[in-house]
Amino acid sequence: MLQRILVWDIPTRVFHWLLVLSFTGAFLTAESERYRDIHVVLGYTLLGLLAFRLVWGFAGTRYARFSSFLFKPAEVAAYLSALLKGKAKHYVGHNPLGSVAIWLLLGLGIGSGVTGVLLYQEIGGDAMEELHEIVSNTMLVIVMIHIAGVVVSSLLHRENLVRAMITGFKSGEPEKGISRSFLWLGVIILVAVLAFWSNYSAIGVATPGADTASSRQHDDD
Ligand code: HEM
Repeated sequence: MLQRILVWDIPTRVFHWLLVLSFTGAFLTAESERYRDIHVVLGYTLLGLLAFRLVWGFAGTRYARFSSFLFKPAEVAAYLSALLKGKAKHYVGHNPLGSVAIWLLLGLGIGSGVTGVLLYQEIGGDAMEELHEIVSNTMLVIVMIHIAGVVVSSLLHRENLVRAMITGFKSGEPEKGISRSFLWLGVIILVAVLAFWSNYSAIGVATPGADTASSRQHDDD
């Protein structure tokens, strides 16, 4: 008997939507010198969020754990073939095909953040700039595939997955639900990110060579 069960804990949901905000914001500010500080702050936020997610992948609740969405290539192929026949099985957590996009997003997010930090530290020159752009553009492509996959999966199983990533609830057998939402940890992540952002807007980021509030402060010393 299917019921409304809790699947996504709060830290995972807060992580997801802050990641969406950070990646989108960083992408939109990537080309302009004027918004470089914002781009850098959002890049650091992305890396911080991913660092949390790496820990939560081992310490988190059932469906947030990496082991719950580590599928063998044969399982991914079997899911894809069932999907093409319109007979894909319903998964309470991530499905095998969706999990491929998720692994790629986590990996590319780290790649984009790390190459961005190296570039910001003026390490690697033009090659690093090129690499940062390639990794970030590839991530954008995977994000689009991810969103398309979410829409297709939602229609196929008549289950609104976007709403599930907001409320945490999906339909499933009662024993498959998680019992704790970890509200306190979600609040800590949200407060930490907001504090980081507000701290940035108060002091600015010392962009090498740029005349930011903090660099002016140092010039005055
Ligand atoms: C910048 C864009 C995005 C990135 C980087 C991203 C990344 C991710 C990641 C890493 C996960 C795995 C969550 C976890 O286990 O921690 C995930 C899941 C999910 N994302 Fe996104 N996402 C993005 C945009 C979106 C958007 C715009 C939507 C809504 C249309 C969305 C809907 C979902 C849903 C529903 C899931 C759960 C999938 C499932 O039920 O298996 N994502 N996303």
